Amino acid sequence: MKDFIVAIDGPAGSGKSTISKIVAKKKGFTYLDTGAMYRMVTLATIKKNVNVENKEEIVDLLKNIKLNIEKDKFYLGNEDVSEEIRGVEVTSNVSKVAAIKEVREELVRLQREISQGKNVILDGRDIGTVVFPNAQLKVFLVASSEERAKRRVKEFESKGINISYQEVLDEIIKRDKMDSTREESPLLQAEDAVLVDTSSMSIDEVSNKIVELVDNLF
Ligand code: DC
Repeated sequence: MKDFIVAIDGPAGSGKSTISKIVAKKKGFTYLDTGAMYRMVTLATIKKNVNVENKEEIVDLLKNIKLNIEKDKFYLGNEDVSEEIRGVEVTSNVSKVAAIKEVREELVRLQREISQGKNVILDGRDIGTVVFPNAQLKVFLVASSEERAKRRVKEFESKGINISYQEVLDEIIKRDKMDSTREESPLLQAEDAVLVDTSSMSIDEVSNKIVELVDNLF
C-alpha cells in the first residue's frame, strides 16, 4: 500500500518523535519530523541575524534557504544542523517563527511534497488537522507537563547538559501556551484522533499501541 499517512500530534515532550521513529522502523514507513523543519527556519533566522519578530524579513529569508532532509539528518543548504536545531536558542524562539502564516504555508507544502507516494508517519502539531486532514490514522499524544519536563531533563542529561527541572518545566508551559493559542493552525486534537496519554506508559507500551492501531488499518 502507498500513501498511508499516520499523523502524530501533541505538545512538546509528549514522546512524539521517539515513538514515531520506532513505529516507522517497525512498519517500514518514512518518518518526517516536522518540528525539525520549523527549527531549521528558526536557526536560519538566528544565523542571518534576523529578529524573530520581523515577519517580513523571515518570509524573505525563507525564499533563499534550502531545507534538505536525509533520514534523521537535517541540512540547511549543505550544512548539517541536526544538533544545532535542538539547542536552547532555537528552542526558545521557534514558537514565534512557527506562528507566521507564510512560514507554515511553505513548510506544509514541503511536508506534503516529501510525503507523496510513500507510507509516512509525521509528527507535529497540525498534521491531523491541517497537513493531512484525511490521514488514515491520527494519534494525539499527551502527558502531564511535569512528566514531559522530567523526560526532557533526562534527555539533556544523557547529552551531558545540566539544566534545571524548573527551567525546563517553565519553557514547556510557555511553548504549549504559544503553540495552542496562536491564530494559525494551533495545536489541537483532531476530532477523529485517538487520544493516548503517555504519562504512565513506557516507550514500548506506547509504540506497541500505535503499531497495533496501524496494523488494524494497514
Ligand atoms: O516538536 P518540536 O518541539 O521539535 O517543535 C518545535 C516547534 O515547532 C514547536 O514549538 C511548535 C512548532 N511546530 C508547529 O507549529 N507545527 C508542527 N507541525 C511542528 C512543530
